[in-house]
Amino acid sequence: MRENESTVRPTTRHSEPANASREMRDFWDAKARENALYFVNNELDFSDPDEARFWASGLEVLETLLGLFDLSIRPTDRVVEIGCGVGRITRPLAQRANQVTGVDVSPEMLRQCESALGDLRNVELIRGNGYD
Ligand SMILES: C[S@@+](CC[C@H](N)C(=O)[O-])C[C@H]1O[C@@H](n2cnc3c(N)ncnc32)[C@H](O)[C@@H]1O
Repeated sequence: MRENESTVRPTTRHSEPANASREMRDFWDAKARENALYFVNNELDFSDPDEARFWASGLEVLETLLGLFDLSIRPTDRVVEIGCGVGRITRPLAQRANQVTGVDVSPEMLRQCESALGDLRNVELIRGNGYD
């Protein structure tokens, strides 16, 4: 290897984000507009998704995940949720943690999330590019 030659390869994120990020955003925006509840939880009935069932499933998923990894959330914790969607899991996270930051690539998901979680004061939402 020559002097100054690096063995560190650039990651794809330097060349990919613009297009791929737009594709991700457009894909999830379309799903959110079409039927956000169903595309977040496809166990629901597409034509008549049960909202109560949807929100209850957020707590179930959170408890299953915490149990699987033997984790718990303390009232002092700050949690980042990547791919928060309309806030199904964000809500039970916010009830346990001190602060939750929800990140999503889809502005439409975030719009619906903001409207659903408007009563929670410890949630901030950020639009990500899908990579970093
Ligand atoms: C199937 S939904 C799940 C939402 C939420 N985690 C839940 O279980 O209720 C997937 C979400 O992840 C978002 N998403 C997909 N890829 C992402 C990425 N690379 N970065 C951030 N958000 C992403 C989508 O916009 C969508 O809101």
